[in-house]
Amino acid sequence: MTATERDTLPGATGAPPVLEVTDLVKYYPIRAGIMRKQVGSVHAVDGVSFALGATETLGIVGESGCGKTTLGRTLLRLVEPTSGQVLFNGEDVVGASSSRMRELRQDMQMVFQDPFASLNPRMPVQDIISEPLQIHGTDKKEARIKARALLDAVGLSPEHGNRYPHEFSGGQRQRIGIARSLAVNPELVVLDEPVSALDVSVQAQVLNLLEDLQEEFQLSYLFIAHDLSVVRHISDRVAVMYLGQIVELADRDELYEAPAHPYTHSLLSAVPVADPEMERSRERIILEGDLPSPANPPTGCRFHTRCPIAQDNCVTDVPPLAEVRPGHWASCHYALGPDETLVQRVKDLGREVHIANSDTGVTTA
Ligand SMILES: Nc1ncnc2c1ncn2[C@@H]1O[C@H](COP(=O)(O)OP(=O)(O)OP(=O)(O)O)[C@@H](O)[C@H]1O
Ligand code: SF4
Ligand SMILES: [Mg+2]
Repeated sequence: MTATERDTLPGATGAPPVLEVTDLVKYYPIRAGIMRKQVGSVHAVDGVSFALGATETLGIVGESGCGKTTLGRTLLRLVEPTSGQVLFNGEDVVGASSSRMRELRQDMQMVFQDPFASLNPRMPVQDIISEPLQIHGTDKKEARIKARALLDAVGLSPEHGNRYPHEFSGGQRQRIGIARSLAVNPELVVLDEPVSALDVSVQAQVLNLLEDLQEEFQLSYLFIAHDLSVVRHISDRVAVMYLGQIVELADRDELYEAPAHPYTHSLLSAVPVADPEMERSRERIILEGDLPSPANPPTGCRFHTRCPIAQDNCVTDVPPLAEVRPGHWASCHYALGPDETLVQRVKDLGREVHIANSDTGVTTA
């Protein structure tokens, strides 16, 4: 990839990135009948491009089923991509041989939402953490010493190493999952909803831990979550996904304060705010219609079936993910300006949108 091509990837900063993803696609076959014939495909990830810089955290948000987990797993080839390019430090991941892929996996790790399901219940914790090291050739004694150091790094006592996963709380188990992923000194960690299963108070502790570890070990994070407040807390940049595609990508504060895509506007309007006064007056935009099926995505702009400002050409013309402001990418033919609100744009078009508000209930604006 040339420097010019790299600079056109959403999220590129100019410096050589750790990860460069171009037009990544993952379709799952839909099979039916006794012969299990393929009758269609789920477009789980459908043409995703972005770059992730060294020691950067890119948050990925979107509704359930929009393809976040599939994106994370496809990047690491835990599921095989249908097409597209993934470069890790400039090296082709999609075309890598299985032996090279085993080596690359040391540098590219994944942390899962449910640590209990991903930790072997019959193994003491020190073995769970040291197992990846032993797989990659470290001798047992040395691996155990490193496991104890990692337990310490994630805020657990090295004495915890002899216990089994069921003897820990959810937050502690997630710390064990994180320690295991760090055992092989990765450069990139894909975190798939790492705090979603935890209580809010424990969430903050684990998020702070992830930030400390990122600094200590110089890690790059792809942080997947559906909770926009969590993503805002930890991310440098944020990408919003809708039906298998990135519809907006920008610097964290720019995205939260001046979103350009109507879908991001509606998502952000649903985020509760801490100030009770502001929370009472907050207007939550209610989108019409259900999320369409990724097996049969809408033509043109995929959001057109629910977009309150859609025009005729949105039904036929695919909006490219374009740089609407410096470093701010959005795929919308009618992207909103930094001071515009979606409600005002809807009104300017002489249309109506349903709004939920805790004082007035559901109203039409
Ligand atoms: N192994 C699979 N086989 C077939 N379809 C799948 C498979 N895994 C995921 N899908 C489908 O692909 C789409 C994207 O799923 P994915 O799990 O990536 O979404 P997600 O954004 O992570 O959702 P959630 O927020 O609920 O975790 C969904 O429609 C899902 O049903
Ligand atoms: S391209 Fe059209 S339908 Fe899609 S988000 Fe923009 S205005 Fe809405
Ligand atoms: Mg998921």
